Amino acid sequence: MKKFLVIGNPIEHSLSPRIHNHWIKFNNIDATYDKKKLDISELENLVKQVKEKKIYGINVTVPFKNSIIPFLDKLSNEAEKTQSVNTIFLKDEKTIGHNTDIEGFELAIKNINYNVSGKKILLLGAGGVSPSILVALNNMQAHKIFVSNRTQAKAEKLKKTFSEVEIVEWGTIPDFDMIINATSLGLNVDDNIGLDFSKISSGKLFYDIIYNPSETNFLKSAKKNGNKTENGKKMFIYQAKASFKIWNNIEPIIDEEVMELLN
Ligand code: ATR
Repeated sequence: MKKFLVIGNPIEHSLSPRIHNHWIKFNNIDATYDKKKLDISELENLVKQVKEKKIYGINVTVPFKNSIIPFLDKLSNEAEKTQSVNTIFLKDEKTIGHNTDIEGFELAIKNINYNVSGKKILLLGAGGVSPSILVALNNMQAHKIFVSNRTQAKAEKLKKTFSEVEIVEWGTIPDFDMIINATSLGLNVDDNIGLDFSKISSGKLFYDIIYNPSETNFLKSAKKNGNKTENGKKMFIYQAKASFKIWNNIEPIIDEEVMELLN
């Protein structure tokens, strides 16, 4: 029996087991997928268990996507560029770290038929997920990317890898076609991002990486002001799909039933 895990801290909230176990069952795979709360000191031993084939595959979530890297034999180009790993698998006896968040975001955007090519994008946040969003936006040929983060030094650090971005001060809103909330603001239902969009005309795309709650105040007020909105649910499902494909070499189905697993 194949054993899969998602690791993080905290991990109780993770919906990965629900979605992967659904696909495991649907495809008659002899496997289990569990969640495990870990301490950073346990990462090395866990990767060892992949090498020893005791664990078949691992999803990595907050806060270990970067700290897991020293224990892996090899990184995919995407994981290397973003310094962020969310999927681990064994290939030719080597533990490989991969990043399927990038593909998750790209497929989510394609799914809503939004064309990023030639667009001006404002990315809010310079935390763990931001490098993945930037690679995806570049893959989709964004014309211009602004990054704004409360702590500007972190945005500047990001610019060392992504020299093409322009940093704007937190609170300054340049004209954009699409805005992405990649901060953790909104995870609590009462959170307000506290930015003034009154000078921005309607008809933009407001995207929130957060999917629980399904409509953050950021999306609520954008919708009220005549904008298109999208939460991070599809990104989450598509990153799971890409991980499943890497491990099992099967394209799992995404239908209404799968979407509802996350409600
Ligand atoms: P980390 O910062 O450890 O990588 P993260 O969850 O990946 O953690 O990122 C959190 C993001 O939300 C950061 O961009 C953070 O901004 P700072 O770098 O200034 O901390 C942003 N964030 C969290 N709380 C915020 C708040 N109250 N106002 C503005 N941005 C906030």
